[in-house]
Amino acid sequence: MTQDELKQAVARAAIAYVVDGEIIGVGTGSTANFFIDELATIKDRIKGTVASSEATAARLRGHGIAVYDLNEVNEIAVYIDGADEITASGAMIKGGGAALTREKIVASVSRQFVCIADGSKLVETLGAFALPVEVLPMARAAVMRRLAALGGQPRLRLKPGTEQAFITDNGGEIIDVAGLSITDPVGLEQQINQIVGVIAVGLFARRGADVCLLGTSDGVKTLT
Ligand code: 5RP
Repeated sequence: MTQDELKQAVARAAIAYVVDGEIIGVGTGSTANFFIDELATIKDRIKGTVASSEATAARLRGHGIAVYDLNEVNEIAVYIDGADEITASGAMIKGGGAALTREKIVASVSRQFVCIADGSKLVETLGAFALPVEVLPMARAAVMRRLAALGGQPRLRLKPGTEQAFITDNGGEIIDVAGLSITDPVGLEQQINQIVGVIAVGLFARRGADVCLLGTSDGVKTLT
């Protein structure tokens, strides 16, 4: 099976976690896009969605699925999203698609987090994928110094094909931190959260995934 077929398989499996009549939180990225396309086939069963990025909102609306502002919603039944890396216990690195802050916010008001990922995303120790950190632009250099002091190699994410900083949906910039071997994800998440100027860190450890649907050549495996 190709990586896209594995992503499609987990996206289809995630439909079983959608709660009828409720609001569904929807993540960002290629795996989440497959999920959106599956969700479209049962859109009449749900009340609507909350999106974790402008791109996801546009794709949902393109399918005729209602997208609510999070401020209009008290609680979300389930949040379904991909990951860049995930451990067997559900700690993740996210933010390869630059949507980490909104993803974290939507996940924080969701009763259940279902991660959908192809098998290549499962790791023993997080950190081979450079850890994304969203920052306020004026704090970029100061935060990079602090991240370097934690042992990482921080690099500003650029808009593809340019020398300009990539700008997120929130007006922030992304620093990708390579070279971290993250043996204490909860501790590092707390440490980075405390750096002034950080908007959010793409470590989802304090609130990790409750369920992971992992696409493998032997079928979709469920990790809880
Ligand atoms: C976006 C994310 C994505 O979930 C993550 O990058 C995985 O993306 P893909 O499904 O394309 O592999 O965190 O900010």
